[in-house]
Amino acid sequence: MAGKKANNKLEKNSSLYTDITGRMLDFIDESPTCFHVVANLKKRLLSEGYVELKESEEWKLNPLTNGKKTSPKAGKYFVTRNDSSIISFRIPRKDFKGFYMIASHSDSPSFKIKENPEMEVPGAYVKLNVEKYGGMLCAEWFDRPLSVAGRLIIRDKKNTVSSRLVNVDRDLLMLPALAIHMNREANDGYKYNAQKDMLPIFGDADAKDKFFEVVADAAGVKKEDILGHDLFLYNRVKPTVWGASMEYIGSSRLDNQECVYTTFEGFLNAADSDNVAVHCVFDNEEVGSGTKQGAASTFLKDTLTRINDCLGRTAEQYFTAVAQSFMISADNAHAVHPNNTDKADPVNRPVMNKGVVIKYNANQKYTTDAVSAANFKLMCEKAGVPYQSFTNRSDMPGGSTLGNISTTQVAVNTVDIGLAQLAMHSPYETAGSLDPQYLAAVSKVFYES
Ligand code: CO
Repeated sequence: MAGKKANNKLEKNSSLYTDITGRMLDFIDESPTCFHVVANLKKRLLSEGYVELKESEEWKLNPLTNGKKTSPKAGKYFVTRNDSSIISFRIPRKDFKGFYMIASHSDSPSFKIKENPEMEVPGAYVKLNVEKYGGMLCAEWFDRPLSVAGRLIIRDKKNTVSSRLVNVDRDLLMLPALAIHMNREANDGYKYNAQKDMLPIFGDADAKDKFFEVVADAAGVKKEDILGHDLFLYNRVKPTVWGASMEYIGSSRLDNQECVYTTFEGFLNAADSDNVAVHCVFDNEEVGSGTKQGAASTFLKDTLTRINDCLGRTAEQYFTAVAQSFMISADNAHAVHPNNTDKADPVNRPVMNKGVVIKYNANQKYTTDAVSAANFKLMCEKAGVPYQSFTNRSDMPGGSTLGNISTTQVAVNTVDIGLAQLAMHSPYETAGSLDPQYLAAVSKVFYES
């Protein structure tokens, strides 16, 4: 199954072959939106014996058990919020010391389908009204097959509503560029207007009223039963492995599904330790994390508090546990760009396939400090994983991520890390084919420590 869907398979006899990279590319290919990320993680958790908890129900939690007489399912749980964020955790056999957490994000920049999306170009086309979700590179969305995926909220028989995952899963839309003859200055830089330039063609004039028919069809529901939708465009170009020695991967959504998948592998494969192993994937990082399911929400704090309380521990024990906890905030980092080396810091410039990147920022956009960096380096050494460092140029502000936002709810020692990549926030990004195994390996060591 490894890498089956990648265009160029990594050769099994190649020294660069790593099984996890192929499986990760399959996962990304099958996860066009944050809702699919959570659904696919959920599927895997259920197959590994994890028990689903609902926030709206009372929790009864047990630690992992020894021996076969007790339930094999004890101690392994997960909970979702909004079907777009998910926290999975394992409770150790003995009373625990702290929470060992890795956080990443499920969302990627895209275009969201607006209400009443069909727009007619009289006698010629039906196009779709969309708006930006997050800060993407716009030009890269042109001239490639696009499709639509997300979730629908459906009217049920009893006049209640339920959620349905949907992926049209065929080449459906195109955003054709304006010919060079009609804009001779196109190569001198163009400012894209989201309301004018970024509306993809859905069909010819006869396509009127067909968009929600197509979507309903793909979801197996009736068009008139669709009461709500969170639908996004996605790039149909398949992931690929490329380069002189297959050293690179190309794919949509490497930021941040590369971190989601590899840290999850580390989480699932880790042996039991003295800490609660917690794997968090939050939605809405690309729009500031300030939603009910984002990193700034109470989702993590609520979950940790409930774990503590359900095991009969006191509030005092919760605070001592948090004080002994550690978080890895995992989100991809910029590799030095081949044609723009001047955009990187003169010294701390990550290279793809050279290991996990530790991210530093004096103004604490990244949470890394001397203590958390040192602890993380020790874990890398233990895992036999190379690491490197990233800082922005001192005259460039750079981006932000989850760590410093999440700590406003649960304040723990945190390190910001990621894997090196190019073309961040393009609908087709580049990363190293060796790096996924490194983040998986250090994640496993972290959860075991
Ligand atoms: Co990111």
